[in-house]
Amino acid sequence: MMGIVMAIEPRYDADAGTPQARRALHEQNRLSWNEATKAHNSHKADQAKYFREGGNKLYPEETELLGDLSGKSVVHLQCNAGQDTLSIKQLGAAKVLGVDISDEAIDFAWKLSADSGVEARFVRSDVYDWLAEAARGNERWDIAFCSYGAIIWLSDLKTWAKGISAILKPDGRFVTVEFHPIEMMFEVDFSHRYPYSTHGTPVTWEDGIGDYVAEFGAVDMPYEWQDGVQGFKNRHAAHEFAWATSEVITALVDAGLALEHFREYDYCNAPIFKEMKDLGDGRWTVPDGKPAIPFMYSIVARKPRQN
Ligand SMILES: C[S@@+](CC[C@H](N)C(=O)[O-])C[C@H]1O[C@@H](n2cnc3c(N)ncnc32)[C@H](O)[C@@H]1O
Repeated sequence: MMGIVMAIEPRYDADAGTPQARRALHEQNRLSWNEATKAHNSHKADQAKYFREGGNKLYPEETELLGDLSGKSVVHLQCNAGQDTLSIKQLGAAKVLGVDISDEAIDFAWKLSADSGVEARFVRSDVYDWLAEAARGNERWDIAFCSYGAIIWLSDLKTWAKGISAILKPDGRFVTVEFHPIEMMFEVDFSHRYPYSTHGTPVTWEDGIGDYVAEFGAVDMPYEWQDGVQGFKNRHAAHEFAWATSEVITALVDAGLALEHFREYDYCNAPIFKEMKDLGDGRWTVPDGKPAIPFMYSIVARKPRQN
């Protein structure tokens, strides 16, 4: 399964040896995400109504880790089409900003905010460019957040973690809930197929990001389902990066953040594999008789008061 891209077999030979080469991969991912995001949203009817009526798409795991957001500023990195950004605002954050590389995602997010009346701002940018510019402009945030399928798109964990550290206020926090890299080693039938980490080597899928929203169907969908785009094929390849949990944590700690929380979950809050066992409360795990694996992990890392 390796993340969220549908393909026969990935390649491991794309050049990521320089910042320029990595930027070129990000730009290809931008094109692939533009197409996939349009297909994904085509299946979700009247999302504005859901948020206008107070909808909140966040799962209990991230809601608990985000904590009391009143008076807080939150930057949501790799926010896609803004649904979770608006949900963070619904939780009571004073100010929310979503950042994403995809033009389609950010255009959709601005419109969703306007149509729903849930106030948020969005910036279309490579996360690396936004972090650098925000640091240069002395922007400081209470919380930097990303989740579910964000970290696999990062080509350079050290620069990312330093960027996050630079834009947090003293005592500010980085919060994430992510798909676990062990889960990503397996195909949807639980056969072991992919490496745990590629240590920065890109994993290239020639057929790009798939329409996983159509594949999952109406299960786990808080909006009304509509058929939308049928038989989606992405014209643009995508490049992922498989990072070990230790590599993510080490990058954050080396950037000066203090690890406050790390948890692995032997359930997933979406039925991403075949024949998963329904635990109730929107949680799924391995079928009976299969050994458990971690499906998700979460991290909270705090910027020291004095830095
Ligand atoms: C699986 S989605 C994350 C969805 C997220 N959990 C949410 O709130 O809906 C991954 C996102 O990362 C974005 N992305 C990938 N590479 C990026 C980059 N270099 N800079 C900024 N965004 C990037 C993609 O455009 C996509 O929207």
